[in-house]
Amino acid sequence: MMPNLWYKNAIVYCVDVEKFMDASGDGTGDFAGLADRLDHLERLGVTCIWLNPFFPSPNRDNGYDITDYYGVDPRYGTLGDFVEFMHAARDRGMRVIIDLVVNHTSTDHPWFQAARSDENSPFRDWYVWSKEKPENAHEGMVFPGVQDSIWSYDRTAKAWYLHRFYDHQADLNTANPAVREEILKIMGFWLALGVSGFRLDAVPFLIDTKGMKLEPGSFDPYSLLTEMHDFMAWRRAGAVLLAEANIPYSDAPAYFDGGDRMNMIFDFMLNQHLFLSLARGTAAPLRHTLQNRPRPDGLGQWANFLRNHDELDLGRLSIAEREEAFAALGPDASMQIYERGLRRRLAPMLEGDMSRLKLAYSLLFALPGTPVLWYGEEIGMGENLALPEREAVRTPMQWADEPNAGFSRAATANLIQPILADGDFGYQNVNVAQQVREPGSLLRSITRLVQTRRSTPEIGWGEWELVDVGRDDVLALSYSWRGARVVTVHNFSPEPVSFPLEIDGIDRFEPLLADHDAQSAILRGETLDMAGFGFCWLRCDGPRK
Ligand code: GLC
Repeated sequence: MMPNLWYKNAIVYCVDVEKFMDASGDGTGDFAGLADRLDHLERLGVTCIWLNPFFPSPNRDNGYDITDYYGVDPRYGTLGDFVEFMHAARDRGMRVIIDLVVNHTSTDHPWFQAARSDENSPFRDWYVWSKEKPENAHEGMVFPGVQDSIWSYDRTAKAWYLHRFYDHQADLNTANPAVREEILKIMGFWLALGVSGFRLDAVPFLIDTKGMKLEPGSFDPYSLLTEMHDFMAWRRAGAVLLAEANIPYSDAPAYFDGGDRMNMIFDFMLNQHLFLSLARGTAAPLRHTLQNRPRPDGLGQWANFLRNHDELDLGRLSIAEREEAFAALGPDASMQIYERGLRRRLAPMLEGDMSRLKLAYSLLFALPGTPVLWYGEEIGMGENLALPEREAVRTPMQWADEPNAGFSRAATANLIQPILADGDFGYQNVNVAQQVREPGSLLRSITRLVQTRRSTPEIGWGEWELVDVGRDDVLALSYSWRGARVVTVHNFSPEPVSFPLEIDGIDRFEPLLADHDAQSAILRGETLDMAGFGFCWLRCDGPRK
């Protein structure tokens, strides 16, 4: 029997501590503030919190530039505050996973400082150096338009160092056994403090040979992932690795390795085709992607998301498809970034259209895999395009129509980032307090979706298949688990649709949830009427046994 693995039916919610809630009143969110707002996450039904990096950092890349892997940045509190938060989360039955950013360190990290200043330092070989400027220095930048090379000359070291991301993020040499040992030690540290696993940053780069001249066959890039997974499983049963890996599907089996490497991988491929489907008003791209999606076996699972803390990366669509998505979802040049993406949040991309937003979130919870939310999505927060790059989607949480949106009592000029205060998505119009009260709010709908998903284990634990309803604009999925069956149906078009619901062996479809209230059971062959952008979740043939 395959045990009922927690993460396959988890509701994951990503928080950037510095943007969530400021308890100290200094203008920056902190662990005490986050602990204080666990009520909100509990009410929403979150079962697992994913924390963006909170380690000491010069913060030139939102904390993804670390100078100490064993601490908490003083702006967010102390290690003691972290432990208090962990305790509070556990008390509410919520797990916590944290970002593990070990592809690179900040160039301010003492390891890099030692490496650059002494060729004979043991830390020299922790990074990737070249005496000459490598030929490929201007290829493969992750942030084109902002970053113009992946190798930079360091005058102190008198050598070039590799950085796949910004020049202040030097790549670690993950072929060095000492680096690998240190990575495990970092994992061990946080596992001992109670985390349930890691969101592993930039995995394809982490396991890259990083320009090292290696004998063919002398280095198995995936072995690091197996080592990390083994170590984690020995230290803490049930802990998971969730990979940030924007990879083609053909690479996925090697990343999962039956769950012996990655337990979960963010499905960037599905994400991009979901947005293409939303842009086109048809389910076809999404359906086609699902058909081609590898089905992880054993311990593996896909993680689904709509938006996250980065840009919406559409780099895996064809040029024509991407142009189409840009035109529908982010036509202005200021919304576009890195020649491939959109620095927007979902609500403004869908022009605040509640029926489309509710359709999108219903899908997020209905698609096979584990749903992951980005803070602020539950209330439909917007972006601030006046901020640089991806900061646009990282504005402080909007709690209430109060000064500083209830995020902080500091002087507005001292906030870590301006609160979104203008227009339809400003905190006066979009905030938690108001949506808690309002029956038709996005927050209430998403809460309901989360509750329904949590009482529908078929989706995370069961087998799924596409149901052919003979229409391109509709996506119908069926999930079976221990003899129980659930069907979800989503209409991507703005037009109402009707079609007979016929699935082999099912006589009766009982409504679980839909975009509208009152709905009676549908018998085999009867017509299912759906509104434009409508959706429904149906339980087949009576309650779960
Ligand atoms: C990942 C993070 C991104 C960061 C990058 C470098 O892609 O999601 O925010 O800039 O890694 O660490």
